Amino acid sequence: MVAALSLPRDAWATHPKFPEQVLLLGSHASFRATSRRLIERADRGASRANVLATFSMWKYAMGGHEHYEEHKLYPFLEHRWGLQTLGLSEGHEALARADQVVRAAEGEALVAALEAHHAILMEHLDIEECTVIPALLALSEEEFRLYSESSLWRILEETPCAAGDVGCSACRQRHLSVGL
Ligand SMILES: [Fe+2]
Ligand SMILES: [Fe+2]
Repeated sequence: MVAALSLPRDAWATHPKFPEQVLLLGSHASFRATSRRLIERADRGASRANVLATFSMWKYAMGGHEHYEEHKLYPFLEHRWGLQTLGLSEGHEALARADQVVRAAEGEALVAALEAHHAILMEHLDIEECTVIPALLALSEEEFRLYSESSLWRILEETPCAAGDVGCSACRQRHLSVGL
């Protein structure tokens, strides 16, 4: 792996591309805070309907975040750096399972279900940040601009694939869909 891709967390804030080239951290901070607040609210005895209404709205927004990650960010990072992101997608699947347990929970089980969901979320966000943030910081300004402003298809066209002629999974899918 390229050395820059294992940049430790405590070195991110002093990197010359910080904060311009970090994504996700602001959203993740809000996910962490919302998750904690929901546990506290349920623990203080708020009604199940009240807690689940906020939970549903929050998880709807997080669904958009995960869709963006799986359909643009992860394929790009696999293409550009050869990063393996299967474990990150599996983190989303684990969260979806924990989400179903929260929505089905009643009485005291609600707090326990929210705590279990929280633990999976914390682990996922930590692994995701440690995978993604160094890879974003390692991009040139031009690469980051292309990534931010373009569709995945255009990025794939204009950025060499880390997998070479074999192609990463996004390149192979693109070739299939355009009949190359
Ligand atoms: Fe994320
Ligand atoms: Fe994620």
